[in-house]
Amino acid sequence: MTSAYKIIEHKHDVVVVGAGGAGLRATFGMVEKGLKTACISKVFPTRSHTVAAQGGISAALGNMGEDNWRFHMYDTVKGSDWLGDQDAIEYMCREAIPAIIELEHYGVPFSRTPEGKIYQRAFGGMSTHFGKHQAQRTCAAADVTGHAILHTLYQQALKHNAEFFIEYIALDLIMDGDECRGVLAWCLEDGSLHLFRAHQTVLATGGYGRSYFSCTSAHTVTGDGNAMVLRAGLPLQDMEFVQFHPTGVYGSGCLITEGVRGEGGYLTNSEGERFMERYAPNAKDLASRDVVSRAMTIEINEGRGVGPDKDHAYLHIEHLDPAIIQERLPGIAETARIFAGVDVTKEPIPVLPTVHYNMGGVPTNYKAEVVTLKDGNPDTIVPGLMAIGEAACVSVHGANRLGSNSLLDLVVFGRSAAHRCAEIIKPGTPHKPLAADACEKALDRLDKTRYAQGERKTADIRLDMQKVMQSKAAVFRTGETLKAGCEDMAKVAETFKDVQVSDSSMIWNTDLVETLELDNLLSQATVTINAAANRTESRGGHAREDFAKRDDQNWMKHTLISLDKQQVKIDYRPVHMYTLTDEVDVIPPKERVY
Ligand code: FUM
Repeated sequence: MTSAYKIIEHKHDVVVVGAGGAGLRATFGMVEKGLKTACISKVFPTRSHTVAAQGGISAALGNMGEDNWRFHMYDTVKGSDWLGDQDAIEYMCREAIPAIIELEHYGVPFSRTPEGKIYQRAFGGMSTHFGKHQAQRTCAAADVTGHAILHTLYQQALKHNAEFFIEYIALDLIMDGDECRGVLAWCLEDGSLHLFRAHQTVLATGGYGRSYFSCTSAHTVTGDGNAMVLRAGLPLQDMEFVQFHPTGVYGSGCLITEGVRGEGGYLTNSEGERFMERYAPNAKDLASRDVVSRAMTIEINEGRGVGPDKDHAYLHIEHLDPAIIQERLPGIAETARIFAGVDVTKEPIPVLPTVHYNMGGVPTNYKAEVVTLKDGNPDTIVPGLMAIGEAACVSVHGANRLGSNSLLDLVVFGRSAAHRCAEIIKPGTPHKPLAADACEKALDRLDKTRYAQGERKTADIRLDMQKVMQSKAAVFRTGETLKAGCEDMAKVAETFKDVQVSDSSMIWNTDLVETLELDNLLSQATVTINAAANRTESRGGHAREDFAKRDDQNWMKHTLISLDKQQVKIDYRPVHMYTLTDEVDVIPPKERVY
């Protein structure tokens, strides 16, 4: 049956899957180094989810006061709740500075200070002098920073004549034993199938926010790369750590940037109290996201939520000068008007913690190479496979990401992947022969899904999954809810066998696309909730009511989780508690936990 599919073959040095900030930065970086590179993307590049990033991108430029990349590193290690790999964090915080200057030179239209420097705003968890003062480190283009960066990177890619394959859905990695040899993709426009052979396949496919009911993610955020990695028999890392952004618009989940609080906005409860003063007396509303999301959830659970159902909080900026709102926060003023019917100059915005980011993903080193545990070596490189951006778990964010470290992660590690490929690939190196049946497994999955004639609609199974994740893998978790959640997820995943795809054509078949994406989401939801049930401590974004404390003795380690026929297998990797150089004695001895 699968031999009925005709496959068009392409040979490149590198194939990048995904054209968001990480994918684009990697793509033109590779081309710049003389590598023949294909970038395949399921959406037009400037529609990638990076476009939705609002508040900014961190770098210790020191434009608004003293700063130092070592302070940035300290904040990131601490913000990660000590689960971040410190070599990778050092790399990111140091490289932030040249990477942002590079972005400026590429043409990103950053907001400016009166003297013409890049404007930087305050963001949660960002300090100077190792926690002493609030830093202004987040470089902003008003509140549309992701949009500004994504468009500039796409222009750079065009300038470099990068080769794009747009509206191509990546179906599966093509593995030869332990080695990745490329990817099979489906072109939506004409229904053709394409085998991209490459010496390195770089996954830049983003997170999987859409496994939850309420999230800030676009509908396309279905973690396709992560799911391909699971199907290739490789593990994902730290999937239990899901970030809730404190300020999603109540009802729709649309993002209201943390930059709002950076510009002086604050949260209140039904008593009009600025409750963050109680939970984080120093940082207050600019405490890290895990802290603010938990505080809001406690306020709501204890009956101090606002609105008829007392189930959300208010975010205020009515006290700010309307001219400042117009200059620095025009996007959220519009979002609040459209999605909450609120004029932000007069009324507060109703907000609720909403799923925003996946700290977990494909384990990599700081050179973007995918790693796995093999023969006792936890840093074994998977030949031919790289991952960057939210799809990857480098791990610079550990158990909790600081706001504005994500756009940074995209450009720093997109760039790093390009540097690494230039080191290890000689342009034009001939490809090793590939077995005639190399695509068979991927074709089989496509074919079975395409002709699935069960009883259940894709949208119904997706809703069931989202409800389980929203209620059972929430801001606060317990052993009991997680156990029930694992059982419920297993039942939901089982119903996929009974899915119905009503349209079997190959041209712009959105029914088939959504069903393949659902399959991807189901595997990630399964490993997320199982990893959460397994980790019996609280750390960063993973808050267990039954294990309320961080347990460094037993749990200062990365979870590796893989999936074989719906059965999870769990292993561990040690956290890298070492730095790349000896220039970074940034952690005051009192705070060291190793
Ligand atoms: O709040 C925000 O603008 C989001 C930024 C981020 O997640 O890095």
